[in-house]
Amino acid sequence: MSDPQPRTKASESDADVRARRVEEQMTDDERFSLLISLVGAVPAVGVPRDKRIPDEVTNMSAGYTPGLPRLGIPAIQASDASMGVTNPGYRPDDKGATAFPASILIGSSFNPRLAREGGAAIGREARSRGFNVQLAGGINLARDPRNGRNFEYYSEDPFLSAVLGAEAVNGIQSEGVISTLKHYSLNCNETNRHWLDAIIEPDAHRESDLLAFQIAIERSHPGSIMSGYNKINGEYASGNNHLLNEVLKDAWGYQGYVMSDWGAVPEWDYALKGLDQESGIQMDVHQWGSEAFTDRLRAAYTEGKIPSERLSEMVRRILRSLFAVGADNWGPAPEVDMAKHNEIALEAARQGIVLLKNDGVLPLATDQPLRIAVIGGHAQEGVASGTGSGAVMPVGGFAGVVKIGGPGVMGAMRNLFLFPPSPLAELIKLLPEAQLAFDPGYTPAEATLLAKRSDVVIAFGIRVEGEGFDSADLSLPSGQDAVIAAVADANPNTIVVLETGNPVSMPWRDKVKAILQAWYPGQAGAQAIAEILTGAANPSGRLPVTFPASLDQTPRPQLPGQGTPWGTPTTIEYTEGAEVGYRWFAKTGAEPMYAFGHGLSYTSFAYSDLQVADGDTITATFTVTNTGDLAGADVPQLYLTEAAAGDRRMRLLGFERVELRPGESRQVTLTADPRLLARFDGGVGQWRITEGTYTVAIGKAADTLDLTGQTSLKEAFLGS
Ligand code: BGC
Repeated sequence: MSDPQPRTKASESDADVRARRVEEQMTDDERFSLLISLVGAVPAVGVPRDKRIPDEVTNMSAGYTPGLPRLGIPAIQASDASMGVTNPGYRPDDKGATAFPASILIGSSFNPRLAREGGAAIGREARSRGFNVQLAGGINLARDPRNGRNFEYYSEDPFLSAVLGAEAVNGIQSEGVISTLKHYSLNCNETNRHWLDAIIEPDAHRESDLLAFQIAIERSHPGSIMSGYNKINGEYASGNNHLLNEVLKDAWGYQGYVMSDWGAVPEWDYALKGLDQESGIQMDVHQWGSEAFTDRLRAAYTEGKIPSERLSEMVRRILRSLFAVGADNWGPAPEVDMAKHNEIALEAARQGIVLLKNDGVLPLATDQPLRIAVIGGHAQEGVASGTGSGAVMPVGGFAGVVKIGGPGVMGAMRNLFLFPPSPLAELIKLLPEAQLAFDPGYTPAEATLLAKRSDVVIAFGIRVEGEGFDSADLSLPSGQDAVIAAVADANPNTIVVLETGNPVSMPWRDKVKAILQAWYPGQAGAQAIAEILTGAANPSGRLPVTFPASLDQTPRPQLPGQGTPWGTPTTIEYTEGAEVGYRWFAKTGAEPMYAFGHGLSYTSFAYSDLQVADGDTITATFTVTNTGDLAGADVPQLYLTEAAAGDRRMRLLGFERVELRPGESRQVTLTADPRLLARFDGGVGQWRITEGTYTVAIGKAADTLDLTGQTSLKEAFLGS
């Protein structure tokens, strides 16, 4: 089992020793002061400035905890960072940050290097604003394509999510800024999220969402874990003794601190159940009527209900993370090269946009006087983003903001944010011989008029998804499906570009020639879309989530709680257990619309010479060849398809993004984390590999397995 060295600036033991020494010198008042954070003022949504935030603090955001200058402890200042340094709403003077593509697009790149580079860029931009904590690292599994926040997560697969989430954290922490991994655990839907009880069989939880956290923690040593809003098996995440104390801290030996999500702490005794810091305490007043970790926690302490050793431990964990990451010892701010950060955002978008379908219409010829209709999706203005606490304002501002609205606290934040430049402008640049015309896609009839007199139609389909809202179904909003169907009927050369955070239903799929899944591609997204459509970039993204043909194929055709008023107690039974996404499709045999791992290229690849070696785990070696005429990148995937004793279960064991020139071959070796071959046995509290024959396959996608091989493994117990 790989256990890479901690990527911290001080060694583990140094940080521990310092934390202990500093904590010993503290008064109880000082100790308690570190156990909470305050939300900064957000005039835009009516959150006033809290008097406990000193006047001189101008760089407010999601979290502020006063420092202790006499002990060299800086104020702890946190901002969101799912797609870049966010929350400009807190700081009217902020000139904007790099708006990176959404995490699900990074998931589609299957490229850990991009996650790391993006993380490091976010770390630098955070530091330049004085933020030493980034609320990044969303690694909930995409269990339901209606979940409004899937764009903030990487994938439906625990291993892919862990590898990418870990690299994002490593990038951020390499700049001396703490990162979270969040939201621990099973905050997989937004509907009634504060009243949601996620029921799962505990061993299956270990093999899915918890395994993502476990592997990501081992690979990145995040300074903090953020506990989610929901309950898991009846206990709120922030007060879940089993998940926080028994699993995270005891079984995994996690040494950082657990912070709650904002408004997730009704009780002071969560301190006894593993929570170390109550975040954004005003949100708890809003949600539950009082702060938990201020007066109530102190009273409990005075009454002897909390051992002083636990109070010290909470403080030590926070200090340890500050010291281990170097957040207390910054020196001069790193240079922030915004042009370079734009390049990172652009490269990510190039690698993460997925070509789903291409009946030969792409790439577009750049040397012909084509009449091209660009239709819908505000493509004359910019590209769409997801909404909620992760929304980022780019330098220079948005190209447009359309207020969508909705009930609840998040309704005011639910906007269509458009990032410039526009796809139309970028296409004009790359198609100098063509005549491009725009139609807003306002009605099918109007859009058809332009489609009919064009050689090619590029129709954009966009959907705002975001925090606090799940989609009711998989359709595109505002009649866009009807517009796309109509223009496809009018013009056989229709290409669709989707800017969404989840799969959509695509009722027009068979009528169109090509489909590009651009996700929320960030501030450089328009350029990447134009480059891919014109062949300046060869698409190489692969789906990190399964696109179902219909919701009936998913474990929950009906989403529990949907349609009830916000605040209705809701139970979701994750009866699929660890068989999430492609694993579920393998189990049920249903044929998805597009499988996990699917993604086309303008060149082609072939696999050969698979050798499967045994040992403590499985190692597969094979050759990838670019059999086409263009340079391109492939992402061969190694899957387990059958474990010992005929246990048919699908698991992504490994992947690698390989760039190849035409005709070039490369040998690739992938070694499985043995836990992906094992079952978690709660009875003994260990991972167990059953002795016997294991079948693996190398594939282009979960439903396109080209080579298979077998090996045998001995019985083994792998620890907790
Ligand atoms: C979100 C978190 C976020 C926090 C602070 C919450 O509403 O769930 O992901 O980090 O707000 O903004």
